Amino acid sequence: MRTDTAPTPTLLKNYKPPNFKIDSVYLDFDLSQKKTRVKSKMQITRVAAGDLELDGEEINLVSVTVNDKVLSRSNYRLTQNKLILTKLPDQFTLEIENTVDPSANSTLMGLYVSGGRFCTQCEAEGFRRITYYLDRPDAMSVFTVRIEAPKKSYPYLLANGNMIESGDASSTRHYAVWHDPFPKPAYLFALVAGEFDILEDSFTTMSGRHIPLTIYVDPGDAGRAEYAMDALKRSMKWDEEAFGREYDLDRFMIVAVRDFNFGAMENKGLNIFNSSLLLADAKTATDMNFERIESVVAHEYFHNWTGNRITCRDWFQLCLKEGFTVFRDQEFSADQRGAAVQRIKDVRALRGRQFPEDNGPLAHPVRPKEYLKIDNFYTATIYEKGAEVIRVLKTYLGAEKFRQGSDQYFIDRDGTASTIEEFLESFETATGEDLSQFMRWYEQAGTPRLTVTEDRSLTTPTAAHKITFAQKTPPTPGQAGKAPVVLPIKWQLISDDGPVNEPQMTVLTTAEDTVSLPRQTVETTLSVLQDFSAPVILEIERSTQDQLRLMGQDPNAFNRWEAGQALARRLLGNMTKSITTGRTPKADRALLGYCNALRSTLTSTEFDNQFKALCLTLPSHTDILQSAKQSDPLAIEHALNWLSRAVGEHLQSDLLTTYHALESDAPFRPDADSAGRRALRNRCLALLASAKSPVAATLATEQYKTADNMTDEISALVSLTRLGGQRVKHVMDDFYNRWKAKPLVIDKWFSVQSMRHHAGGIDAIRALTEHADYARNNPNRVRSLVGGFAHGNVELFHKLDGSGYRFFTEQVMDMDTRNPSVAARLLGVFEVGRKLDKTRQALIQDELAKVIASKPSKNVLEIAQKMKTG
Ligand code: TRP
Ligand code: ZN
Repeated sequence: MRTDTAPTPTLLKNYKPPNFKIDSVYLDFDLSQKKTRVKSKMQITRVAAGDLELDGEEINLVSVTVNDKVLSRSNYRLTQNKLILTKLPDQFTLEIENTVDPSANSTLMGLYVSGGRFCTQCEAEGFRRITYYLDRPDAMSVFTVRIEAPKKSYPYLLANGNMIESGDASSTRHYAVWHDPFPKPAYLFALVAGEFDILEDSFTTMSGRHIPLTIYVDPGDAGRAEYAMDALKRSMKWDEEAFGREYDLDRFMIVAVRDFNFGAMENKGLNIFNSSLLLADAKTATDMNFERIESVVAHEYFHNWTGNRITCRDWFQLCLKEGFTVFRDQEFSADQRGAAVQRIKDVRALRGRQFPEDNGPLAHPVRPKEYLKIDNFYTATIYEKGAEVIRVLKTYLGAEKFRQGSDQYFIDRDGTASTIEEFLESFETATGEDLSQFMRWYEQAGTPRLTVTEDRSLTTPTAAHKITFAQKTPPTPGQAGKAPVVLPIKWQLISDDGPVNEPQMTVLTTAEDTVSLPRQTVETTLSVLQDFSAPVILEIERSTQDQLRLMGQDPNAFNRWEAGQALARRLLGNMTKSITTGRTPKADRALLGYCNALRSTLTSTEFDNQFKALCLTLPSHTDILQSAKQSDPLAIEHALNWLSRAVGEHLQSDLLTTYHALESDAPFRPDADSAGRRALRNRCLALLASAKSPVAATLATEQYKTADNMTDEISALVSLTRLGGQRVKHVMDDFYNRWKAKPLVIDKWFSVQSMRHHAGGIDAIRALTEHADYARNNPNRVRSLVGGFAHGNVELFHKLDGSGYRFFTEQVMDMDTRNPSVAARLLGVFEVGRKLDKTRQALIQDELAKVIASKPSKNVLEIAQKMKTG
């Protein structure tokens, strides 16, 4: 795991297909926690001259057999991570026997043990930790898998595809044989064995095929999988309607595990989920959890076509499956929960995670050109910007042509390992469009800046009204020059009485372009980039009056929300400056206008509750940090608190009225309307608490005591922690005692603890790492505490004495000894370093130097080096 020599990057331009094709593979597992025996038998055909280089990591090789002849040690080469066979015939049978130790596997890649059960994670390069193989996505093969294990401890034996045989191997042991008829790369392989409770249902496909659906969970948890099952059936239906995609195997299975590196994995026919993204009920899960479960269940299911039936030629093409699949799950959620609200949430996430990446030291194109560790490239850019690029394609082509293009792609590339070029080619074939310039979206890193200026020529009344759109993408590491990209810009002119024209679409393909329209007789504000029609940073001069006009009159819900955000960003920017120079922010007319506009939104009958809740949510800390230069993160935090308080005070009586009006004693339902009601009600409570309104403590205490669902319970808890005082310890202890038997709720407890104010400073956070329930090797727990701390505790993480950064680095380095991919991901928090003041920049650079000097894993090294300057 440790690296001593400088690692060499993998380059896109060096891609070369393998010399051999594995036509079929038979895998035989004899499961045992400490020593699992794996035998593989492969039918192999030569496609080009040369050696066969199989990948392998931390494997004990027992024997290698070619065409029934056991090879002696001098007949193959074994390096640290390759098994090389030379002088092979054109067609042969290769048999390999080896053992692995799943109980010692803390990386959670390959075959490992979680909660006493066996499970696997093979994307991206985990299969090579199971046996020697061509562990690359363009090596597709037909898999048959036999699993044998003790009956009692492992009643369920699962793998991809359809079960073709099962029975007893002895009086205490049993076996199952699974066959997956669809050729697939090794990263989609999965095996699970253990004791589970199951939830069963079924789905009838568009051609009338009856598909049993099974979800496997911890004993006692079957009821908590019902929502996921419902989401699965809705996803299956939606994919048939929206993309014409039908399910293909005879059954579909999902397994929940507690120890998992990411969210979930789309293994063919056998998805494996982090239990946090599968299990939910009213009492233990928030509306946000329900929403995420719905979208991740859909995401993994949609991969069956975009990822599995059509996979990636190499890992540089990762966005081919991830960008497209995120786009598909976003569209699904929009259909389930409302397009405007979904778009707002997606853009918030994009700005919160992808913009900082695209504008920092880790910036990379949606299709990168090189990498050290592919695990480090499961990024917001590949996923979220990858999805935005697909959305731009759809906006540019129109819905109908987009569907023709995607249909064509499924026809052209089914059963293959494909590329971005091939994807776009199918869209060109179907629509006759030339998409060569569009390719730049995949090749250029960095967020384009879109500058919009208006010339109203008020002095010459007959002259036209001109709008000029200009684009420019700033340089990113290793990529100095940028060319214009295809930018579809949706815009409309808005007066105080509403829109004065229909929404317009201008496609900007050059650096600059101007459109002319007749002079307007009334005063208007340009609503531009409606629905966030392209992932850019908009630069436009607007007065407070302009923003307020859009907040009140823009028919495009996204832009109405955005106008409020933009105004809040400006107010917060100014407040941050005041605070930094030692002054207290003052209420001015802009603030008053902002509060009044929020009040109109809050009391309007025109909008749904979820939308109102989003309007009443301030821009994030990250948002403000991104738009500032070298700022003091604590000053930003103060500004945010100051503005929340001002809004809370100003709207106090309306917030209170709304809070009471939204009370409901109807039984809990997780649907979008009910969730919207809770979201707005809890937003009201949070603002009242920010304003330190005297009733806030009473309301929060009462809500905490009487809540019948986790959304209301945890919202009350967070409000109480923000109100501070003696009650905090009491309520945190109470919450812990109530929920100590539910790990997913204890994760929430750790994250609330990690983010709240602690008078004792960093020692209080450090003490949490010694808590009996803290588990250093469980990624969910570590992300809750360490990730929660770094993202959500501005006060302690950014403390000027460096204690927060120091603690964080220690934790990352500790995690790196066990789980490099999770450690590297955590370390990415430092990417905002350059946005901070000079003192903090220097502190972070010291930490990075320490990390690099510690001889970390390749994963951590790659991230640390990119963030380290000079
Ligand atoms: N392909 C998975 C998804 O998009 C994510 C994934 C990639 C993953 N690598 C992983 C999940 C490693 C767990 C562990 O949903
Ligand atoms: Zn995915």
